[in-house]
Amino acid sequence: VSTTEPSAVAQGHAAGRQAIPAPSQVIEGGSPDRFGYEWEHYPELRPDYERQFLRWTAPLPRDSWRDKTFLDVGCGMGRNSFWPMTYGARGGVAIDLDERSLAAARHTLAPYPTVRIVKGSAYELPYRDEFDVVFSIGVIQILEFPERAIQRMCQAAKPGGKVLIWVYGRENNGWIVHGLSPLRRMVLSRLPVPLVHFLSLPAAGLIYPVIQAGLLNSIEYFREARGFSFRHLRSIIFDQFLPRIAHYWSRDEVLGMMRRAELHDIQLEWVNQVSWTAVGTKAPA
Ligand SMILES: C[S@@+](CC[C@H](N)C(=O)[O-])C[C@H]1O[C@@H](n2cnc3c(N)ncnc32)[C@H](O)[C@@H]1O
Repeated sequence: VSTTEPSAVAQGHAAGRQAIPAPSQVIEGGSPDRFGYEWEHYPELRPDYERQFLRWTAPLPRDSWRDKTFLDVGCGMGRNSFWPMTYGARGGVAIDLDERSLAAARHTLAPYPTVRIVKGSAYELPYRDEFDVVFSIGVIQILEFPERAIQRMCQAAKPGGKVLIWVYGRENNGWIVHGLSPLRRMVLSRLPVPLVHFLSLPAAGLIYPVIQAGLLNSIEYFREARGFSFRHLRSIIFDQFLPRIAHYWSRDEVLGMMRRAELHDIQLEWVNQVSWTAVGTKAPA
């Protein structure tokens, strides 16, 4: 198993089911305190977020959201609950651990009162057989016990409902796994968040012109990133610098996690040649 951190996937596989984490581990692993700073400072809903959302959820096209209920696990500022509502979803729950993220989500989702903003952990989702779609975007890979969260997501989905995750891929991200990740683990994730935010400025200043010049065009993600504003790129770099844990999984590892959650009809999409979307169906009752 090739991940940047000791592999909770491998542990989960060996142990069958992952043990329920203690509260301290919940906070440590998912870095919600650190992401709270991000969503407080980058709360705006950018138009290019919709294009991203459609890529992250490619197996669930716009029409498929009509009249559906959803659970958004680790909702951050709520952007990924916003788009399904514009496609006619009935409503849902957006859940996160951090108060600042939840405040940003309340603001983003104010036009849609049928979306409830709830404080809670991905490990302790208080729902069973409830939602048509349960999704988590950019969260599972920063958790210490990713499979535990996926199991909880499956419980929350209705029989026959969909469970979708979007996670970083191992493919094409060797430079992060071997370069940025050790730096992030040993240095950046231990620094005060405002300082990490400050450091993201010179990093973005270096990378932005390289992307704009098309020097990284061999990878789809960087072709896409040519359309990002400087502020958007900086927020992505900041997001990469923040977490205490970040797993980068290969296609087979992602498939394995979905299978062990006993999901069916699993579909995988390689998103922008750097990440994976996986969707599966919960068995009918
Ligand atoms: C990278 S952000 C992604 C936010 C959002 N899904 C998005 O794509 O905009 C990760 C989010 O996961 C949340 N988080 C971390 N650990 C969590 C946990 N154990 N339970 C619920 N949310 C958690 C953080 O607070 C943060 O908002």
